[in-house]
Amino acid sequence: MKHFSAPGTEIYWDQAIYEREMATIYGSAWLFVGHDTMIPNAGDFITNYMGNDPVIVVRDRSNAPRVYLNRCRHRGNKVCLHDSGSTKSFRCSYHGWTYGLGGELAAVPLLDKAYDADFPRDELGLVSAARVTTYHGMIFATWSADGPSLDDYLGEDLRWYLETFVFDDPEGLEVLPGRHRYVVPGNWKMLSENFGGDMYHFASTHASIVMLGRAGQADRIQANNDLRGADTTFYSVECKGDRNIPHGLVQLTCGTGTNTAELSQAATISPDAVAWVRARHERRRRLLGDRPSEAVAFHTGTIWPNLSMNGFGAAFYARTFLQWQPRGPEETDAWQWAFVEKSAPPEVKERMAFVLTQRQSAAGLVAPDDMDNFQRMHDVLHTARAGKLAFNYDLGAKGEASLIPGLPGTVMEAVSERYHRSFYEYWDSVMDESRR
Ligand code: FES
Ligand SMILES: [Fe+2]
Repeated sequence: MKHFSAPGTEIYWDQAIYEREMATIYGSAWLFVGHDTMIPNAGDFITNYMGNDPVIVVRDRSNAPRVYLNRCRHRGNKVCLHDSGSTKSFRCSYHGWTYGLGGELAAVPLLDKAYDADFPRDELGLVSAARVTTYHGMIFATWSADGPSLDDYLGEDLRWYLETFVFDDPEGLEVLPGRHRYVVPGNWKMLSENFGGDMYHFASTHASIVMLGRAGQADRIQANNDLRGADTTFYSVECKGDRNIPHGLVQLTCGTGTNTAELSQAATISPDAVAWVRARHERRRRLLGDRPSEAVAFHTGTIWPNLSMNGFGAAFYARTFLQWQPRGPEETDAWQWAFVEKSAPPEVKERMAFVLTQRQSAAGLVAPDDMDNFQRMHDVLHTARAGKLAFNYDLGAKGEASLIPGLPGTVMEAVSERYHRSFYEYWDSVMDESRR
C-alpha cells in the first residue's frame, strides 16, 4: 500500500477550505435532491440544498423533475419559502417577480410601464441545474454540464449493490411523510466517512445498545439488523465510480442466519409479513444468481459526497437516506427521510418506521452516540496545540485484493479505514484541481 498521508485537521474547520469545497466538490458532484414520491404530480415541489446553495425541486407540466437555484433574479430573495407543496408558479415575496414551473420569468409587476422594451426578460429565468437525472426514483442534479453521467459517477459496482439490496422491490420505494432534521456540531466529512466505512466505532460508541442486546433485551430493541446466525460474516465494501469517486458500504452481511431470523420475526407480525419476507428472500436469491456468496444485505453506506444510507440490513428497518447539509465548516444539518418498500404490508411498514425511530433518529438509541463524539471532536479541533495534530487512518485492508472476488467492488474486512483513505485521496484530488 502506498503511504497515506492524512490531511491536516484544518479541513474540518477552515472557512476558506469550506468555501472551496462548496464551489468545487459540490459544484461538480451529482447530488441527491429528492425522490419521485416526494413530488408525484405536476406542480409538486420540495426545497433542498446542493451544498450551501438552496434549490427548488419541482415537477414541471411535462412531468419531468426540474431543479432551480432558489434565488430571485431581481434582488436575490428566495422565491420559494416552503419545505414542500404544490403550485402553479413561484412568486417572489419582495417585488413580485413570478416564475413558471419551467423556470421562466413569467410575470414582472409594471413590466410595460416601468421597464424599457428591450428588458431581457427571457434571460432572467431561475438558474437551472446543468443536469437532472432520476435513478430508481432518486432525483440527482449537478451544476456541472460536463463530467460523468450519473451511471458512471455511481459506477457499475455500487449500482449492483443498490439494485440488489436497495431498489429491488418490484414496486419501488416510497417516502414516508415528513423527515427528521437535526443540527450536528461537526464538519460534513466526518458524517460521510462514518457512514461510508466506519464499522470500527460501533462496539465502542454504541456500547449501550450492544449491552442491551447482551442483557437479554434484544427483543425489546426492535432492531433486527442485530439478527445473525452462527454462520453470519460481515464485510465492508469499497466501490469506485468514474475517476475513483469513492463510495462505501458497511456491514455487508453474508450467511443464511439473517434470513431465518427474519422469518421468525415476521411470524410474530402477521401471515402477510411472512409471505412478504419469503418473496423478498426469493427475489434476492434470483438477483444474486450464482454469485459465490450468501450476501443478504448491507446496512450503511455513503454515496460521494454527502448522501448516506442506513437500514438496508434487515427487512423490518425503514430504508433511510441521510443527507449531510454543510452549514459552514463546523456545523452540519442532518436531513433524514424514511422510505419503505411499496410492496410491504401495512403492518410491516409500521414496524419499519418504528425500528428506524427507535434507532437512527435524533433521540434514538444509536444516532445521538455519534453526535456526541462529533461535538467533542470539535471542542478540541483547532485549539492552539490540538490544531496541529493530524488524525490517523492506518487501520486495516492493506492488501488490494477483494476477499470475495465474485462480488462487485473491493470486499474487505468489516473493520477497515481503506474507504477513509480513498475518501480523502479523492477529496484532495478535487481540491487540488481547484488550486491550479
Ligand atoms: S427580489 Fe424578487 S422581485 Fe425583487
Ligand atoms: Fe455510529
